[in-house]
Amino acid sequence: MTGVKKEILRVLREAGEEFVSGQRLCQELGVTRQAIWKNIGKLRENGYQIESVPNKGYRLRSVPDRLYAPDLESRLPEDSICHRVEYHDILDSTNTRAKQLAEQGEPEGTLVVAEQQLAGKGRRGRRWSSRPGEGIWMTLLLRPGLKPAQASGITLVAALAVVGGIRRVCPAEPLIKWPNDIVLQGKKLCGILTEMSSEMDFIHYAVVGIGINVNHTDFPEELEGKATSLRIETGKEIGRQELIIAVITEFQRYYQRYLERGDLSGLLEEYNRYLANREQPVTVYYGMTEDENVTRQGIAKGIDAAGALLVEIDGVCERIVSGEVSVRGIYGYV
Ligand code: BTN
Repeated sequence: MTGVKKEILRVLREAGEEFVSGQRLCQELGVTRQAIWKNIGKLRENGYQIESVPNKGYRLRSVPDRLYAPDLESRLPEDSICHRVEYHDILDSTNTRAKQLAEQGEPEGTLVVAEQQLAGKGRRGRRWSSRPGEGIWMTLLLRPGLKPAQASGITLVAALAVVGGIRRVCPAEPLIKWPNDIVLQGKKLCGILTEMSSEMDFIHYAVVGIGINVNHTDFPEELEGKATSLRIETGKEIGRQELIIAVITEFQRYYQRYLERGDLSGLLEEYNRYLANREQPVTVYYGMTEDENVTRQGIAKGIDAAGALLVEIDGVCERIVSGEVSVRGIYGYV
């Protein structure tokens, strides 16, 4: 019955201040009055204030600040890449769940969202702090017709989508710390973890996990001074559902452009516009190689179509490839 709740919310939201009659809901949704009444009851139980007036019908008065699959689905456009939202109060990790679904044959476009993750995964085996009620912890399942070597671009596409989504719904101007951290005021706001299953020249699936610090007012001790949230930086509480929809919508736009060309050439200008440290001095840490402590300084120039960072070092433009190194501005984390 998720579909009925989703459709009721969609019709009531579109009607705005107008009442929608029970009869119209029955006709549009193709269900009985009893089904409408029952599902409106369920929505009310979930915190949706739905006014009902005899001879007029129903009107949506207020929506709770919680994550709810039928509500998220009702906000997605018809042609959205995301056709299904699977919501959990608690999960170990949305990436793990999305991979499990993928293995079971779930099609592209399912979005797994959790209020809380008990074992949120960061890159390089790190943990990702994912307390309830504060952030967005979600993973989108994709089945891209790309070669495995092209998959790393998906993470950069997601970074662009997060920046675009945030800029659409709140008064903040985050930047991208190459390749895929989103930062605000020099602190980390969002991390992205893409995992995939592939053969030599074929991707079975990729899952793009996105963690955004949204309404945190503080952080665990180990993240103090390193992480921030949209609420801390803007002083405003941000609607997480609205932000999820904005990020998914932006993702679809950029992802389509990425698939059309098979590289980032159509996205370079936007990515480079939001690149932190562009034309600034950066230190390149070759810590993932055998030369454990080798660092070099240069000027970050932007990315190329393959997603490599171009850094001018001693007058020569070097391609820095993600995964091999890390790059920082010469002051602090970003
Ligand atoms: C990083 O910057 O290290 C990447 C962090 C990615 C965190 C997100 S939260 C949703 C999804 N599920 C996970 O377990 N991890 C990603």
